[in-house]
Amino acid sequence: MINELTALRANALEQLSHIWDDGALEQWRVTFLGRNGALAAAMTKLGALPKEERPAAGKLANEVKIALESAFEAKIGAIKQRALSESLESEPLDVTLPGRPVQRGRLHPANANLREIYRIWRDMGFQIFLSRETESDEVNFQMLNIPPHHPARDNWSTFYVADTDHRVLLRPHTSPGQIRAMRELGANGTQPVRVILPGMCYRYEQASVRYDIQFNQVEGLAIGRKITFADLKGTLTEFARRAFGERPVRFYADHFPFTEPSAQMDVQCIICNGAGCALCKYTGFLEILGSGMVHPTVLRNGGYDPDEWSGFAFGMGPERIAMLRYGIEDIRYFWGNDLRFLEQF
Ligand code: DAH
Repeated sequence: MINELTALRANALEQLSHIWDDGALEQWRVTFLGRNGALAAAMTKLGALPKEERPAAGKLANEVKIALESAFEAKIGAIKQRALSESLESEPLDVTLPGRPVQRGRLHPANANLREIYRIWRDMGFQIFLSRETESDEVNFQMLNIPPHHPARDNWSTFYVADTDHRVLLRPHTSPGQIRAMRELGANGTQPVRVILPGMCYRYEQASVRYDIQFNQVEGLAIGRKITFADLKGTLTEFARRAFGERPVRFYADHFPFTEPSAQMDVQCIICNGAGCALCKYTGFLEILGSGMVHPTVLRNGGYDPDEWSGFAFGMGPERIAMLRYGIEDIRYFWGNDLRFLEQF
């Protein structure tokens, strides 16, 4: 029996030394270590041995079992190792090659520009108020002092929404948010308000280099007990300084139904510094925003007593501003989703 076990061990280990693939290894395991394998067969014979021979034979049988099992485990590792070195040799890996570039996402230029504008207004104490993109005719026009059939409505080429009476629309400007901000934050005309209202606006336009059917606006509104036109000029001038650097701004009279008086603000051309060029159409200035003192009717519609409260408002087109800053020639690029455009930012 001792001889048989010793021979079995030698034979098994000898065979194992030639094995280098998983299939043969499994076959080997079944042959020697399997339930009906050679070792199991030898072990069943132990019972038939004379009593005095049994302990030594049993001990040896155990040693053989442990030796074969650990040789088997070691072989698994050795086969893996050999497969790895073979594949490394046949497909050499050049660790000095430059890596493949990873495609990284980034902010859309319109959003990056919006965030810059938010940052400036936030630093100046304005909070962001998000209003809705679908509006009622009442808030978008009537509350802003633009009654039904008023010719000023033509300034806002409006998309109407699934409503034959034209009472629901896609907002063509962010100004209706002024009414909502005053009503939600003003606590029935008892609290001051200082907000910007950014967001997408829609207009029924023939899309062109200068006009698109969608664009962002950033509206601003400040309501308080003693706000004057000097506050409007000072605040907007400071915004222009933070956004465009030290350069002159100019205000001139304009008209909007929801402000009185109304003013347009221009900033000195960022390309020619006032000398005159194609960008500023040889005027030396660029139009940046519309503004004005909130009309008493609008204050009243927001819940304020116009004898006690006053305020200023403004509205700007951030894509327009980005076009000036980066020399973008066509406003339609913003929503065209052309990566060649987007990746430049
Ligand atoms: N809502 C105007 C527009 O869409 C822009 C504007 C002008 C907003 C004057 C204002 C303002 O708040 O005071 O063209």
